[in-house]
Amino acid sequence: MTELTVDLGFLRLKNPILTASGTFGYGLEFAPFVELNKLGGFVVKGLYYKPKEGNPPPRLVETASGLINAIGLQGIGVEKFSEVILPQLQKFDTTLIVNVCGDEDDEYASVVEYLDKQEGISAYELNISCPNTKREGRCPALQADTTHAVVSLVKKTSKRPVITKLSPNVTDIVEIALSAQEAGSDGLSIANTCRAMAVDVEKRKAKLANVFGGLSGPAVKPIILRMVYQVACRVRIPVIGVGGIMCGRDALEYLIAGAKAVEIGTANFIDPEATVRIIRELEEFCRDKGIERIEDIIGTLRI
Ligand SMILES: Cc1cc2nc3c(=O)[nH]c(=O)nc-3n(C[C@H](O)[C@H](O)[C@H](O)COP(=O)(O)O)c2cc1C
Repeated sequence: MTELTVDLGFLRLKNPILTASGTFGYGLEFAPFVELNKLGGFVVKGLYYKPKEGNPPPRLVETASGLINAIGLQGIGVEKFSEVILPQLQKFDTTLIVNVCGDEDDEYASVVEYLDKQEGISAYELNISCPNTKREGRCPALQADTTHAVVSLVKKTSKRPVITKLSPNVTDIVEIALSAQEAGSDGLSIANTCRAMAVDVEKRKAKLANVFGGLSGPAVKPIILRMVYQVACRVRIPVIGVGGIMCGRDALEYLIAGAKAVEIGTANFIDPEATVRIIRELEEFCRDKGIERIEDIIGTLRI
């Protein structure tokens, strides 16, 4: 049996497979399909302080090898999450990470301050990189100084570890990653979706009501993998890879490139059992290759 535990430093996961925010609801929706206790952990849908309706429909478009979404971070807000969802999630024996959103920097800190008083959360993932919200085109993760400002503000209040979720829509991902690290981020998740659009040629209209959305799925994997590798070579804090992982071998590519764990997103829409299947595929690969600990494969890319 391969030892699948991974140590992020601030958090130990029973295996490197997490769910990506926004693609796994609040976790409970998937309980009929997936044995949640088997997961390394899950990252719940992004939470603002107050409930949000998100963008008007249509909000999802399929593309060749991907999905463009413009959900706009619809969510129930911290109060309802803490009162209704969290008590149910506390029954599961897996790591819970809450994805934190904000229209202004202060809002991130307020969400974290509220959640800090609740039990059963292991870490926060700061969503400073959503490409299809009110802040679109100016989300903090697009620049090093704005990234630094929001991460340091949250780190001042947070009692729990903070993972900063970066945007792929930048020229130099390493510069942004280093600024998040300098601001005290405990880890990085790379990355959110790639800003994109699609056109209905009959109507000559954008397929999304919001015009722009974020591309995810297999189409983005080679780009995000490159970013994970570039960043993992330069930072001290752990990197979590997120983008286009559909099978165990995709996850292995990220681990070999230096990610300590990965998040599974779009794959959940195609196969609700994708996460547990990927864990099984990782185990099979390691068994076939005689790898005793999954950690032995992390960052082993040969150049
Ligand atoms: C429908 C949908 C909703 C999403 N909602 C969020 C969200 O609330 N917060 C966030 O940080 N990322 C969100 N994302 C981005 C994913 O967490 C992930 O970063 C991205 O989809 C890339 O991974 P994938 O290619 O495996 O899907 C969303 C993605 C999709 C497809």
